[in-house]
Amino acid sequence: MPDLNTPLHLDMLQRARKRLTLTARVKKAIKILLGKEDFYGLEWGDPNKIDPLRYIKDHFLLPYFDSSSKIIEIGPGGGRWTRYMLKASKVFAVDFYQPVLNELAKNYNLPNIKFIKNNGSDFPNIKENSIDLIFSFGTFVHLDIEIIQEYLNNIKPLLKSSSNVIIQYSDKTKPLGYERIVNSRDNRGFSDNDPEKMRKLIQAHGYKIYEEDTKTMWHSSIIRFGL
Ligand SMILES: C[S@@+](CC[C@H](N)C(=O)[O-])C[C@H]1O[C@@H](n2cnc3c(N)ncnc32)[C@H](O)[C@@H]1O
Repeated sequence: MPDLNTPLHLDMLQRARKRLTLTARVKKAIKILLGKEDFYGLEWGDPNKIDPLRYIKDHFLLPYFDSSSKIIEIGPGGGRWTRYMLKASKVFAVDFYQPVLNELAKNYNLPNIKFIKNNGSDFPNIKENSIDLIFSFGTFVHLDIEIIQEYLNNIKPLLKSSSNVIIQYSDKTKPLGYERIVNSRDNRGFSDNDPEKMRKLIQAHGYKIYEEDTKTMWHSSIIRFGL
């Protein structure tokens, strides 16, 4: 059974908090005033500035919701992607780590965002057949296959026939990606996954695959699917 209590995510938050000490927070406030945001998560790249991430935002996130949509984001972190979802009617920010949700709430404590602490693969108090979009970036890359399977089981009842599920996952077929996974601090703890495994898992759970992107990211791939 994969260890959901890995310190990986809380370590990342801790490092970000050190980075955001008092002086750093003053600098951050100035940056925010100048329209240059800084918060936990931007160290992995700003989708407003990094081309592949901008592409993910424009191609895999923005087209799949509007102001009437209900969205679940799995593993929102500091809100690197959440900030683009704010016009949705509801965003359920679902995360296994309460300190991470607390950090997110500091940045985005808005009436249409609901912060939900889960047990690693469930969706407490979210109604069946009610969700238009499930989006997850930077999270499934760390999840072992057993947890991904549990998520795939638990996602299904929440969807409508028109819903989209968009997940970025670890792709160990990418040689550069694998090198980076082994050697880079940023990519510690990537799980043993690839497009073939992910495709089979998704199909075995009875979903239809709508789109796959194995090219944009150098260490991971993205898949869009639904009922
Ligand atoms: C590397 S961060 C990515 C955060 C954000 N999505 C981004 O791209 O900046 C991973 C996020 O997944 C959360 N997480 C880790 N395991 C999880 C699980 N089993 N279920 C839900 N969230 C989880 C962490 O707390 C953290 O918010």
